[in-house]
Amino acid sequence: NNMLSWQRTAFHFQPEKNWMNGTYGGTRPPTSPSLPNCSFSLFPCFPPFTDSNCSYFVSPSWWARDAWRDAGILWRRFSLFQILMGWYHLFYQYNPDSAVWGNITWGHAVSRDLIHWLYLPLALVPDRWYDAGGVWSGSATLLPDGRLVMLYTGSTNASVQVQNLAFPEDPADPLLVKWTKYAGNPVLVPPKGISTLDFRDPTTAWYVAADGAWRITIGSKDARKTGLSLVYSTKDFYKYELLDGVLHAVPATGMWECIDFYPVETEGVKGLDTSANGPGVKHVLKASLDDDKHDYYAIGTYDPETNRWTPDDADLDVGIGLRLDYGKYYASKTFYDQEKKRRVLWGWIGETDSEQADIKKGWASIQTVPRTVVLDQKTGGRNLLQWPVEEVESLRQGSKAYVGVRVPAGFVVPLDVGEATQLDIEAEFEVDKDALEATAEADVLYNCSTSGGAAERGALGPFGLLVLADESLSEQTAVYFYVARNADGGLRTFVCQDELRYVPDPALNPTPFYFPAFSNSHGGREECAFSHVRKQGDEYSELRKFPGNCRSSKANDLVKRIYGSTVPVLDGEKLFLRILVDHSIVETFGQGGRAAITSRVYPTEAIYGDARLFLFNNATRGHVTATSVNIWHISSASIRPYTPAEGI
Ligand code: FRU
Repeated sequence: NNMLSWQRTAFHFQPEKNWMNGTYGGTRPPTSPSLPNCSFSLFPCFPPFTDSNCSYFVSPSWWARDAWRDAGILWRRFSLFQILMGWYHLFYQYNPDSAVWGNITWGHAVSRDLIHWLYLPLALVPDRWYDAGGVWSGSATLLPDGRLVMLYTGSTNASVQVQNLAFPEDPADPLLVKWTKYAGNPVLVPPKGISTLDFRDPTTAWYVAADGAWRITIGSKDARKTGLSLVYSTKDFYKYELLDGVLHAVPATGMWECIDFYPVETEGVKGLDTSANGPGVKHVLKASLDDDKHDYYAIGTYDPETNRWTPDDADLDVGIGLRLDYGKYYASKTFYDQEKKRRVLWGWIGETDSEQADIKKGWASIQTVPRTVVLDQKTGGRNLLQWPVEEVESLRQGSKAYVGVRVPAGFVVPLDVGEATQLDIEAEFEVDKDALEATAEADVLYNCSTSGGAAERGALGPFGLLVLADESLSEQTAVYFYVARNADGGLRTFVCQDELRYVPDPALNPTPFYFPAFSNSHGGREECAFSHVRKQGDEYSELRKFPGNCRSSKANDLVKRIYGSTVPVLDGEKLFLRILVDHSIVETFGQGGRAAITSRVYPTEAIYGDARLFLFNNATRGHVTATSVNIWHISSASIRPYTPAEGI
C-alpha cells in the first residue's frame, strides 16, 4: 500500500508526466538530473545593453533542471519590454547522465524574472585535463567595461582542485549560450600547505581601489580542520597573487565550500554591489560546511588593508552561529541585481529520499525560491533578513483571508482553502497573556531539533500551521512557534518545522497523546515504526501501533527531522510566519525572515486535491489567536527548454 502511494507521489515528481502534458511543445529534455552543487554567481548582462538595463544573476547550484518543474512556479510569455530588461542566468552543477552526483557539468538556464526559466544547452562540460573530474562551482564577475569573467573549480584528471577561467564566446549573445575556456588554464593551483583536495569554489571578485586590483576568496581548510578563506589579488584575472594571512578562519569547522562574501547596508535596505565598502557597510561571510552540510553566515567588518574580516560577535562566528536556513539547504550564493538594487540569495534543496528513489524518479534536487537579503536593522544588525523575491507575488491567484481565529489549547482548526498544494501563506499570531505568564522554566533547554516537535506540549507552544496535511491528519508537516522561558525569566521564541511527529487530532483523540522520543536505528534514515502511547501520570502506556505512520509522509526510507531555531521577537511584535508550500517543499520565514527553514517532504496522501491546511495549538495553557491569516493559491511556473525558433 505504501508502495502504491509512493508511486503516486513519485508520479508527481516525474519529469515524464510533465513533458508529456503538452506544456513543453513536445520537446523532451534530457531525462535525468543531476546533482548538486554550489553555485555560481552572477552575471550580467550582455553588451548590447548598458548596465542599467540588465539584471544579473546567477547563483547557485545544483541540479535544478527537471526539478524546477516541481517547484511549481509559473510561466508567462515574454514581452519585448522584458527582453530589454535583461536576463538572469543560472548555472548549476548537473549530471547529464544520472540523478546522482558525478560527471559534473554546468547546466544553464535563463529567466527575465527569476520565476520563469528556459533551459539552454550545457554551458561547460568536463572535457579538458584540468576539469576532467568535473566542472565544479564557480562565480562570475562583471567588469566595468561590460566583459564577463567566469572562474570555476576544475577537478583535474588527477583529482587536483584548480581554478579555471572561461568567457562567453559571443559577448553580443544575450543568452550567453556558448562558452570558451581560457587556453592557459588552470590559472590557480593549490598553494603550499593546502591539500590538493581542499581548494575550491572561487567567489565573485570585488574591486579594491587602493590596489587598483580585484580580489577573490577561495575556501579551504588546514591540516587541523580549521576552515578558512584564502584571498588572491588580480589585475587581469589571468595572474594572481596570494595575499598574506587569510580573510578569516574558524577552528574545527572543516572545509569551507561555496564561500560567499558581500557587503550589506547598515542603514537602508538596498543591496550593494560586491565591491562596495566604507561607512555604513558591513560584510557578510558565508561558508557551506562540508562536514555538516549547512550554510553558516556571520556579520562583520572587512578591512582590505589588513586582508581581514572580523565578526561583530565572536559567539556568532562562521560555522558556530547563525544559519541561512535551518532546514534542508546548502551551497547557497548571492548576487547583486543591479537593476533592482537588491542582493538575491539562492540555495539548493537536496533530496531526503534514497538515492535509489532519485534514480527511479529520474531527477534530484531543486532550488529554493530566490530570496532578497538585507541586514536586519531592527535587531541592531545582529542577523540577516531573508524574504522571497517580490516576483513570487505575481503568482498569487485567489486569496482567502481569516481574521481573529481563536485556537484553544489542544485544538486543530481546518482552514478551508480547497486544494492546498501550492500556497503562499502569511499568518500572524497573538498569544494569550495568562499563558505567557505560565511559560515554565523547565523549557530552558528547549531546542526544536531535540524536542518532541509538534507533539511535545509546553505551556505556550507548539502552535502554528499544519501544511501538506490530509483530511485525517495522517500526514502533516507542522510549522510552529514555541515560546519558552529563560533561566533569567525572559522569553525565548523558537520557530520550528516538524517533518516527523504528529499533532493528535483532538476530535479523534479527546485526550492528548504523546510520543516517546524517537530512536533512530537506521543510520539517519527513519523507519516509520512509531508506538502510539498515552501518558498516564508519569507512565507511558502503549495504546496502538501505527507501523509505517510517519508524519510528513507515510513512505519509508526518508530522512525526517525537526528543524528550527530561536528567532528574535522585539517588544510589541506579533509572531509572524510566511510559508511557501509547493507539493514537496515547505519554505518558512519566521518573524519577517529573521529565521528561514526549508523542508523537503514526500506526502503520499496529502497530495493534489487531497492536501489540506490547518491551524493548530498544541500548547497546554491558553489559547492563541491567529489575528490574520492570508492564503493565496500560487500558480505554476513553466520551466522548459528554449527552442531557438521561438526567438527572444
Ligand atoms: C558543494 C560542492 C562544491 C564543489 C561542487 C562539486 O556541494 O562540493 O564545493 O565545487 O559541490 O560538485
